[in-house]
Amino acid sequence: MSTQFATPPPGAADHWWQHGVVYQIYPLSFADSNGDGQGDLEGIRSRLDHLTWLGVDAVWISPFYPSPMKDFGYDVSDYCDVDPRFGTLAEFDTLLGDLQARGLRVILDLIPNHTSDQHPWFRESVSSIKNPKRDWYIWRDPAPGGGPPSNWASEFGGSAWQLDQASGQYYYHAFLKEQPDLNWRNPEVRRAMHDVLRFWLDRGVDGFRVDAIHHLFKDEELRDNPQNPDFVPGMSPRRQLIRRFTTDLPEVHDAVREMRALLASYDNRVLIGEAWLPFDRLMAYYGDNLDCFHLPFNFHLIGARWEAPALRSMIAEYEALLPRGAWPNWVLGNHDRSRLASRVGDAQARVAAVLLCTLRGTPTLYYGDELGMRDVPIPPEAVQDPYEKNVPGLGLGRDPARTPMQWSAAPHAGFSSARPWLPIAADYAHCNVAIQKEDPRSMLTLYRSLLALRHARPTLSLGDYEAIDPAAHVLGYYRAHAGRRDAVLLNLSGSPQKLALPSALAGAHVLLSTHPERAGRPVGAELLADEAVVLAASE
Ligand code: GLC
Repeated sequence: MSTQFATPPPGAADHWWQHGVVYQIYPLSFADSNGDGQGDLEGIRSRLDHLTWLGVDAVWISPFYPSPMKDFGYDVSDYCDVDPRFGTLAEFDTLLGDLQARGLRVILDLIPNHTSDQHPWFRESVSSIKNPKRDWYIWRDPAPGGGPPSNWASEFGGSAWQLDQASGQYYYHAFLKEQPDLNWRNPEVRRAMHDVLRFWLDRGVDGFRVDAIHHLFKDEELRDNPQNPDFVPGMSPRRQLIRRFTTDLPEVHDAVREMRALLASYDNRVLIGEAWLPFDRLMAYYGDNLDCFHLPFNFHLIGARWEAPALRSMIAEYEALLPRGAWPNWVLGNHDRSRLASRVGDAQARVAAVLLCTLRGTPTLYYGDELGMRDVPIPPEAVQDPYEKNVPGLGLGRDPARTPMQWSAAPHAGFSSARPWLPIAADYAHCNVAIQKEDPRSMLTLYRSLLALRHARPTLSLGDYEAIDPAAHVLGYYRAHAGRRDAVLLNLSGSPQKLALPSALAGAHVLLSTHPERAGRPVGAELLADEAVVLAASE
């Protein structure tokens, strides 16, 4: 079958990952084809019409590799296969072919920092101090007086060191004790992970989202992490320490550079990095010569104060720090954080959708956010996430943002014929794809219109960014490309806002609004409460 990729807009940057929109699928929760209450690859394949109808360009599929599921697939026991609960390798190949035949690119999750403790590499490593794979993981003797070798803390609570009774040594795990960290200083580990990359690239995948990359190297001297003076009770316990000696070590960039060089021997693939870092440190992940990640994920919208001045200065800081030639990107939600609509409310979630789809840079959209899905309360007996189990009651659990996709008003929201692995939102009978598709005022219709507009207007996908300041609570910017300019105005408040517009926007018409009745009309002197608009500026 020949592969037809969407034609890039005129004057496009060369790469699909620059003008395209990425959609994250959390496979356990997208669609269940075999009635076991858990999503699977065939389920995804049964919903391809949704993806093309919506208008996304690429899907990133969270892990579906064999896994004991202690961290829901982020604990991998075989990097080169498919877990039976998700399907088979043959089904993956079919899914990949079908997605690509529709012009969609396919990005996989790569988890290089750690394996499952059930991975054969670790089983060998733990078997004896003399085993050749001992050094594939991070093993250390106890501290001189006994106990863990350093004060390093696990992301999910407790010490990051786990004692192996048999050998008397400890191994390091940045996440669960069932997720031992690999030793990236060992060249055999690097080679083995490169083989994993090749395995999937040879099958035809279009790139990787690389998990937890800032954890890849830890201080060889095992220096204790300093106390965090800003810690207050209620924060995740791991924040008692500043992760100076356990994250973002300089060696990480060489390791990423090697992955990128490997990708470069294939056509047109993308490397995306997951690193939760301040902007100044994040920029180093592009590489000195733009030879590391194409897109180090920018998560700063997720934690942002939802006010125009705060967003304006955050965007300005990001734009200013981007290395020359580096391509920006924006993420509004993912499987690790509270849902957008729960963070900012339903009305502002629509404003946020316009922001995500009109900022300069590749947008990543989390499944279900196109419906405005909210966090679903999880009763204690239904909790799945190990983070919530280890550190209960602080609101850190990730299950609420991982609940099944709401396809229709059918039982189990059309997700499955059986009771799903996590509860379905109480409002699914109203908040679902089937209903929202028919509703011109729905979030789904808004997203579809936004993506269509973005595809039709290179200004929005490729244009330069220039801030404008039309009112205190209004975030505004131009996007300019090839002699054309569009403008975006977002009312971050729940009350109408008078606008002081530059002359180029005085008579401008609304191309799109969160309030669809305004489309096609002049913008006038005011934005409605919670309104965001895209305008065509006059030249
Ligand atoms: C990343 C993933 C998260 C996972 C962790 C450990 O942050 O997004 O879901 O728990 O890495 O792999």
